[in-house]
Amino acid sequence: MPKIGEILSNEVLQDSYYKIEFYTPEICKKTQPGQFVHIQIAGLKERILRRPFSICNVTEDGVLTIAYKVVGNGTEALSKLKAGEVCDILGPLGVPFTLPKEDEIPVIVGGGYGSAATYILASRSANKGVLLLGARSKTDLILTDEFEKIGFDVRTATEDGSSGIKALVTELIKPVIDENPGKKLRFYGCGPTGMLMAMGMILTKEEIETELSLDELMCCGIGACFACVVKVKADNEDGWRYARTCKEGPVFNANDVYYG
Ligand SMILES: Cc1cc2nc3c(=O)[nH]c(=O)nc-3n(C[C@H](O)[C@H](O)[C@H](O)COP(=O)(O)OP(=O)(O)OC[C@H]3O[C@@H](n4cnc5c(N)ncnc54)[C@H](O)[C@@H]3O)c2cc1C
Ligand code: FES
Repeated sequence: MPKIGEILSNEVLQDSYYKIEFYTPEICKKTQPGQFVHIQIAGLKERILRRPFSICNVTEDGVLTIAYKVVGNGTEALSKLKAGEVCDILGPLGVPFTLPKEDEIPVIVGGGYGSAATYILASRSANKGVLLLGARSKTDLILTDEFEKIGFDVRTATEDGSSGIKALVTELIKPVIDENPGKKLRFYGCGPTGMLMAMGMILTKEEIETELSLDELMCCGIGACFACVVKVKADNEDGWRYARTCKEGPVFNANDVYYG
């Protein structure tokens, strides 16, 4: 029997993206779509902070999967860990996505690791919908086959035109709305802040139900340090207040986000 937090596998997914599997039965049982874990990366001595990662998948026998990109010291150290090593993992943390209702078609808009953060949502949705995935280049589009396998229509946009249309992923939103007159769509977003803000503004104007996962830089991950704040609407003189994404998010209703 593996130890709690033990790495079962850690492999290159594509380019600088990796897929890591941990044994965490208790976290797996409680995980809801869009939640994240906060990982103390084993052997990372110079920086004691945990790193947050969205939970990409969980199984009934306790295997938790994360898809991550190597961007700095922490993720570099994570990519070097081998099966059998153990990490201390906190979770599941954060406010989850709401599953689509029976009469709603889910439309997921993702950038970067956004497809990893929304895979559980897609697999648990009774209705299969559309994944709109954007990136700089084809090598940054991950998990497209996995979404297709579970019945999602995958459409891509890249800045260099190497996959799908040569444009920002937000350009793919309007066509989906136009193709579905009279049908109820529910949008979900996870990706860079600029993409989420643009998406939130388009969809709140269209009055379409939308949830956004605002993944800010985090320190404590449990609501104690205010490192992760974003502006949300508030009934005060300024019209906004700070909300901690680790505690009140990362998932927010697009109507609550302050776009000023
Ligand atoms: C709720 C949440 C879920 C996340 N899920 C995933 C995931 O599933 N897969 C994945 O690859 N990454 C995910 N991230 C981002 C991941 O936490 C960071 O990439 C990681 O902490 C970077 O650590 P590092 O030590 O390698 O890099 P650092 O040395 O700390 O930073 C390297 C570079 O990455 C940037 N960076 C760090 N954190 C973020 C962030 N949150 N958003 C944008 N840029 C960032 C820094 O500004 C810097 O430019 C998530 C972040 C949050 C808050
Ligand atoms: S990371 Fe400390 S309050 Fe959110």
